[in-house]
Amino acid sequence: MRTSEIAKRFVTYFEKQGHLVMPSASLISPNPTTLFTIAGMVPFIPYLLGEQTPPSRRMTSNQKCVRTLDIDEVGKTTRHGTFFQMLGNFSIGDYFKKEAIHYAWDLLTSPQDQGGYGFEKDKLWVTTYTDDEEARSLWKTEGMDPEHMQVLGMEDNFWTTGGPGPGGPCTEIYVDRGPEYGPDGGPIASESRYIEIWDLVFENFEVDNVKSKTNLHIVGELANKNIDTGMGLERVAYLLQGKQNIYETDEIFPVIEEAERLSGRKYGDDPEDDVRFRVVADHVRSALMIMGDGVRPSNEGRGYVLRRLIRRSIRAMKMLGVEQEVFPHLLPVSEAQMKLSYPELESSFAEVSETAFGEEAAFRRTLDQGSTILDVAISQAKKDASEKGQEQPVVSGKEAFTLHDTYGFPIELTTEIAREQGVGVDDRSFRELMAEQKQRARADALKKRHNVDLSVYDDAKKALAKPIEFTGYKEFSSRGT
Ligand code: SER
Repeated sequence: MRTSEIAKRFVTYFEKQGHLVMPSASLISPNPTTLFTIAGMVPFIPYLLGEQTPPSRRMTSNQKCVRTLDIDEVGKTTRHGTFFQMLGNFSIGDYFKKEAIHYAWDLLTSPQDQGGYGFEKDKLWVTTYTDDEEARSLWKTEGMDPEHMQVLGMEDNFWTTGGPGPGGPCTEIYVDRGPEYGPDGGPIASESRYIEIWDLVFENFEVDNVKSKTNLHIVGELANKNIDTGMGLERVAYLLQGKQNIYETDEIFPVIEEAERLSGRKYGDDPEDDVRFRVVADHVRSALMIMGDGVRPSNEGRGYVLRRLIRRSIRAMKMLGVEQEVFPHLLPVSEAQMKLSYPELESSFAEVSETAFGEEAAFRRTLDQGSTILDVAISQAKKDASEKGQEQPVVSGKEAFTLHDTYGFPIELTTEIAREQGVGVDDRSFRELMAEQKQRARADALKKRHNVDLSVYDDAKKALAKPIEFTGYKEFSSRGT
């Protein structure tokens, strides 16, 4: 089943249950606490909080999302993507636990020829929140094996956006991939065997001050008992398509194939190369989608996230032995897949491509300038470590700083390149040098300001140096007459 078909089935199912189909909102988050839309529920926050009236009390959507918190996991696990799509059904004070659990079970287990996903019932597992007996009994009524239900606490089964906003206890649904992927024992026992696909949140609380999952402050109950659910489209796709991970699904894999062609290497031949192939496929798609929503590379905020994604893709391709420009080849392949679901990509693609190609060319110049210096620093670090009998060679903070300051090499890049060769970077001393530089710049700016001010005073001083002729009597007397 193609990814787009899985998405279509979801929204069609919920439309039949009286839900209004909402279009995906932009990736640029309307929520000021996050840069990107990180979950399907983000556009619905004002409705969930009761601040705005929803167009319908039942809604469903397939929302574009970006999360880069786990960027280092991309390519290494089966399921981490920086761009992903979250399918969801939302009830704003309409139905609650009973219907949410029933719909989920029904859609997951109904046969494929009847519009469902056809998952085998005995492959499904759920976790529920500590004292949520109601959810457990509802799952049992649907037909879930009681042995396949596990109880988790605040850390795992109380959902929040990570900042102030709506939140609540949840029940998560998992698919068992089978004993070849990990030990028995349910989601608690193995993350790689039991894949979380869908989270049903019983979202009737407002939280603030979210320091950590176990240290959050519940402001109180919301006016409405809401339902917010999120299903990972790419995860369901890889399970239904019988693939090993999200990167091998129909929307993502063609980029890997293009990267194979460019590099002359084969996906599946070498575990380290495979991670690189997956990073490329993930990051090129994310960069495309982020640019499609109007973000352009820059040195801060969203633009910097985009810049990192583009640079990491180019670096991964370099590690695959590709020296030529890669975006002119990879970006159109990703666009051809993604425009099947997002036809609007087409209208901005010429401009998006031009931006990406320009960014690649600029980055290649940076790489050319800094790479030799970094190579020397890495060899030196290795030599020093072996002479001093140290286990971990480390590039000094001073060298990392020079690379940053003189060659425009961001610290993340230095760290990544060094790490690939088993070498660390003295991050602490780098940060100290950065702080010193900032202080120097601040002091310089202050001095410049003083200089300007002093020159103004100089003029005044000069004027004052002349003898002052007192004309008061004359002027006042003349004015007075
Ligand atoms: N808000 C929940 C999540 O993002 C369910 O949509 O997982």
